[in-house]
Amino acid sequence: MYLSREEEGIYQGERGETLRRMMEILVALGDIYGAERLVPVRSVQIAGVSYKNIGEAGLEWISDLQGQVVVPSILNPAGMDLCRWKEMGIQEEFAQKQQQTIEAYRRLGVTIDCTCTPYQIYQGLAGRGDHLAWSESSAVSYANSVIGARTNREGGPSALAAALVGKTALYGYHLDENRRPSHLVEVEADLRGSDYGALGFLVGRTVKDGVPFFRLKGRRPSPDELKALGAAMAASGSVALYYVENVTPEPPGPWQPEETIRLGRKEIDEVYAKYPGSGADAVALGCPHCSGQELEWIAGLLQGQKVQKELWVCTARKIAEEHPQLVATIEESGARVFCDTCMVVSPATERFSRMMTSSGKALAYLPGLAGVQAGLGSLEECIDVALGRRQ
Ligand code: F3S
Repeated sequence: MYLSREEEGIYQGERGETLRRMMEILVALGDIYGAERLVPVRSVQIAGVSYKNIGEAGLEWISDLQGQVVVPSILNPAGMDLCRWKEMGIQEEFAQKQQQTIEAYRRLGVTIDCTCTPYQIYQGLAGRGDHLAWSESSAVSYANSVIGARTNREGGPSALAAALVGKTALYGYHLDENRRPSHLVEVEADLRGSDYGALGFLVGRTVKDGVPFFRLKGRRPSPDELKALGAAMAASGSVALYYVENVTPEPPGPWQPEETIRLGRKEIDEVYAKYPGSGADAVALGCPHCSGQELEWIAGLLQGQKVQKELWVCTARKIAEEHPQLVATIEESGARVFCDTCMVVSPATERFSRMMTSSGKALAYLPGLAGVQAGLGSLEECIDVALGRRQ
């Protein structure tokens, strides 16, 4: 891989051991994937934040690094609400380790926002055509597909390397040739809300790491619905980029699908039937993290009522702070709005045996990553289960 004189100097250790190690990671990835060179990134989103996932070895690795990030860099969700971890049932020892992890990132100049929806809280992190180094799979999908930026799905070390060096290797989704659709998906159904999670759950399993191009009948999906669609495909498959005709930015150049998939109401309803919410002992919303609009819907459905089961609503701390009245309305019902974390990356979920969710991504991940069975329903059905109106 070509390195400029300055990059070569970093690689040789002229700017210290941390930067040398970081450049080594970027060059190794570039060599593996055949990158010609490095490219500057506008922002970085770093995975490897939940102590549940990184453990002691990960904490030591991060704590060992010196220096400061050189581009705006924010974090993935942590293993707990950084303020209200006791209410989640998190143990003291875990909380200490999680706080040490956060402090290690803070010391490197990383902004302490722990969210999978950075695009909901900062406008300036990503624009069309920008190169990024983002980690969390739903954020990667949203950035590539809805914003029209360019990022691979970075691991924790490679994202941190990009943050400290300010560059990433130019391969994969940074290049037009890898951004052409592989599958045409025709959907003959009018979808709303969690239907997009169910659709993504189905399509991700079929196309795996392909690039689906959707032709949707019916109304135009909202940003939250696109967020849900991409998140589910990234979890049930490993889709990092998709298109929706007349909604998202267009694919580059001419393309021919390898395969056409046709889906309708029947297939969407089969997902709900296969993963019912019945028997859930808790309900989790906010995967990916809720937007202000989603908090408003949830508050409207809960207003003046009391939940009978634990109901978690996960969001970014900045979103919660922007909407104190909605948070208060939700919490008056007995539900909890947790920030900085989520039902998949927090060990607090493990005490439940079955969770109901409106998210296709949580549906795919809860059993494997948290050991919790999952059921899928619309937002209204999830709230009904939490209120004890349905079993
Ligand atoms: Fe975000 Fe956690 Fe879901 S990181 S996309 S809320 S699994």
